[in-house]
Amino acid sequence: MPEFVGAVDQGTTSTRFMIFDHDGREVAHHQLEHKQIFPRSGWVEHDPVEIWERANSTMQNAVRLGGLSAADLAAIGITNQRETTVIWDPRTGEPYYNAIVWQDTRTDSIAAALEREHGDLIRRRTGLPPATYFSGGKIKWILENVDGVREAAERGRAVFGNTDAWVLWNLTGGPNGGIHATDVTNASRTMLMNLETLDWDDELLDVFGIPRAMLPAINPSSHPEAFGITRTSRPLRTAVPITGVLGDQQAATVGQVCFRPGEAKNTYGTGNFLILNTGTEIVRSSSGLLTTLAYQFAGAPAVYALEGSMAVTGSAVQWLRDQLRIISSASEIEALARQVEDTGGIYFVPAFSGLFAPYWRSDARGAIVGLARYHTNAHLARATLEAICYQSRDVAEAMERDSGVALDVLHVDGGVTANDLCMQLQADILGVPVSRPVVAETTALGAAYAAGLATGFWGDTDELRLHWHESKRWEPQWNDDEREKGYAGWKKAVERSLDWVD
Ligand code: G3P
Repeated sequence: MPEFVGAVDQGTTSTRFMIFDHDGREVAHHQLEHKQIFPRSGWVEHDPVEIWERANSTMQNAVRLGGLSAADLAAIGITNQRETTVIWDPRTGEPYYNAIVWQDTRTDSIAAALEREHGDLIRRRTGLPPATYFSGGKIKWILENVDGVREAAERGRAVFGNTDAWVLWNLTGGPNGGIHATDVTNASRTMLMNLETLDWDDELLDVFGIPRAMLPAINPSSHPEAFGITRTSRPLRTAVPITGVLGDQQAATVGQVCFRPGEAKNTYGTGNFLILNTGTEIVRSSSGLLTTLAYQFAGAPAVYALEGSMAVTGSAVQWLRDQLRIISSASEIEALARQVEDTGGIYFVPAFSGLFAPYWRSDARGAIVGLARYHTNAHLARATLEAICYQSRDVAEAMERDSGVALDVLHVDGGVTANDLCMQLQADILGVPVSRPVVAETTALGAAYAAGLATGFWGDTDELRLHWHESKRWEPQWNDDEREKGYAGWKKAVERSLDWVD
């Protein structure tokens, strides 16, 4: 019997393959970055072929590094950066255009028109506010701006997928019978899926001008057959069932075992994403949060969530590294920020893609406010870490308003949680303890859980709960005065970042 489960985590900056054992412990992993393409201000693209090659290599390498063979894998899960849009020719596997990444703002006039003409309909059907973030506007942009794609789509020669569907189609055979499917969580990020029927909404397809034939089949996130098996002609050279597919933030929710209504997690990646499980109930937000799918396991009803998406958190640290070059690796930010006691009163609002939750203002742009001659790189580094935490406080407050449930502890995961100072600041700024599990890479773990639940590798969610262990907890140290004064300054800084783009 195969003793392990693998997971492809196709993220915004890198792709990794991780292998877990029955206790949810990591056995091996391999990770490769891909190019970030910025053709113009506000545009962000990836090369889909490079992404597939990275997925390919990391799968082969992780299996080799673990001293395993693909036959040791009982199942594979796929998790992915959500919303990022790929359109390809199913006869050849060639993309018609680069992937348009979730952070890309080129569709702001499309989003503004949708808001004016169909804002209420879109909110009601999909739980999302019209915004550049989601896939629907990106598909529309490609159909309208890339020669020949609309005609190809109408003849079934152009199909859409987020990167889950792109990787799945390739793994299951590509042009030779590849499966064109996605799951409810990814579909819920397109602005095209009806939250109640869990199917593409014909009225919305009409509004967007998107032919249904382009779209993947929508499956549960965990299913024994719906996603097929890896073809032996493909990188693993072995037939392994693919039985879990879900968006990365929902995967982290599963990895953090947030299976009960009221349980929440905050993942610190390129962006931050705070997700609260609301059970089988669709909770509408009046505070700027998204209503989205948490997961659906085969044979069970769909589970919904409220989500606060923050576009720029870890990527603000990358900006300090790649553009300002005040650090040479992301982890150096902690030592630099520790050189000073506080930010010296400055705030950095990294609204590079406008502001997402709870503001949804595509007219916002980045701002550093409060500067004096006195300030140094160290103050800016500290303000960057605080910006990650203040954005999370904005979202946590919105969540409290919408759900009526106050967080008594914040469960965190993702790369930035290795930054001790940032986690301490998070506890200080929020005023509640912050808790990190032993496996901080809960995204891949959650995809593995979804895959393993479908095949019986794991029996049920109670079994998964037993794998969750706290590795570290940070208690708030600021007093209430410090906390409220700091937050008031942040709100003022956010005001300064608004109304920047016409
Ligand atoms: O919605 C975008 C999100 O899925 C991206 O996550 O971890 O790649 O920043 P991450």
